[in-house]
Amino acid sequence: MHNPIIVALDLESAAEARALVNTLGDSVSFYKVGLELYASAGMDYVRELTAEGKDVFLDLKLYDIGETVKRAVRQIAKSGVRFLTIHTPVSVMRAAVEGRADSKLELLGVTVLTNFDQSDLADRGCMTPIPEVVADRVTKAVASGLNGIVCSPLEAAMVRRTAGPNAIIVTPGVRSAGAGHGDQKRVATPADAIRDGANYLVIGRQITRAADPASEARRILEEIK
Ligand code: C5P
Repeated sequence: MHNPIIVALDLESAAEARALVNTLGDSVSFYKVGLELYASAGMDYVRELTAEGKDVFLDLKLYDIGETVKRAVRQIAKSGVRFLTIHTPVSVMRAAVEGRADSKLELLGVTVLTNFDQSDLADRGCMTPIPEVVADRVTKAVASGLNGIVCSPLEAAMVRRTAGPNAIIVTPGVRSAGAGHGDQKRVATPADAIRDGANYLVIGRQITRAADPASEARRILEEIK
């Protein structure tokens, strides 16, 4: 069975991340490096993970002028990273697709940040309802050559309908029934997210703070089956 779990390495240092990756062993092979670990351990640690044969999702949510995005993506593509997030203005997406060229890097679009509400969009002069903005961004992401979308599990079904069968859908904000939600407000279970069309699930604390992270990852896989 395809293992859809991506573990979020929301940790302060490469040493902490190494210890967790070691503990997880072969129960998980895909890891998300976000801004915190990137700021402390950088591409050296990302390359260490890829050299060990791990898949890496680099969650940097790039948003800059086209030339800068293109050149940054070109560097990231050389590191063997598998997924990279970018924001979805068409100029940013086109630049990222150029930077990726024919590498194996897959680009995932961030539509509307899930902690944004209508007043956050109004703050930027946008009066369009959020679901319409998300659908429009998804359509443009696919047309621009992105490989997939990161979205809330509650948007996964709509994103799947809009993006079509080949898009990669990655959803954070998943929790097994009964697991602590932490600061996540709008969650779905791993099985619900997969049923609604997600291909990969980003899971952080439910696994990383478990007494036995490897068993917790295996238990979630069983739950999805
Ligand atoms: O610990 P938890 O499972 O909540 O971690 C989820 C991960 O997914 C974190 O790295 C968080 O930054 C990220 N994320 C999220 N919700 C979003 C986008 C990203 O939780 N809408």
